[in-house]
Amino acid sequence: MKVIGFVASPHKEGNTAWTVNKILEGAKEHGAETNVWYSSELDIKPCRGCLICAKSDGCAISDDMQKIYDSLKQTDALVLGSPVYMGQMSGQAKIFTDRLFAQITPRFSPKFKEENAGKKLILAFTQGNPNADLFQTYYDYTKKVFQLLEFDVKDVVVVTGMRNEPANERKDLHTVMKNVGSALVNS
Ligand SMILES: Cc1cc2nc3c(=O)[nH]c(=O)nc-3n(C[C@H](O)[C@H](O)[C@H](O)COP(=O)(O)O)c2cc1C
Repeated sequence: MKVIGFVASPHKEGNTAWTVNKILEGAKEHGAETNVWYSSELDIKPCRGCLICAKSDGCAISDDMQKIYDSLKQTDALVLGSPVYMGQMSGQAKIFTDRLFAQITPRFSPKFKEENAGKKLILAFTQGNPNADLFQTYYDYTKKVFQLLEFDVKDVVVVTGMRNEPANERKDLHTVMKNVGSALVNS
């Protein structure tokens, strides 16, 4: 099984990167081949809405998202990590999600391609606020959007309280996150 992570945070050493990498570590320990991408190292431009992708096989924008498209084609599962910015996913995560349109669209889209459906997905959010319920409506909604895109959403992980203690110092999270990764492989 191949699993890729996408860290949609400006911090390569931040809470989101730590969380995604722990999940990947758990997956790797259970036999998965893993790879991680950092938005901070990539040039990924926003979708232009040109819809060239609806008429051809790929996206017309020549940037680093082309590497992700190639990687996604060969992957069974994606771990998409984002910090919560203003109660939602980061701008980097939204740009990434919009750009998936060239490859992964809803069934009602004329561009729908069966072979893209059913990839496993874990959404991993990190937030400063310790209250897990605060953005629950948003997390539920986001899960629904990815289900509409026919991802097989296996888990929505929310790591809270990052304003008090960074993720890498939270000993309680190590096993929990690795278990998310192993459950992904075994699901
Ligand atoms: C611009 C900005 C907006 C943020 N908005 C929220 C928010 O609405 N709710 C929240 O709980 N935390 C918020 N945070 C805190 C981050 O979600 C939190 O620190 C996160 O773990 C950072 O992840 P990183 O280390 O990967 O960058 C915000 C941080 C920034 C920089």
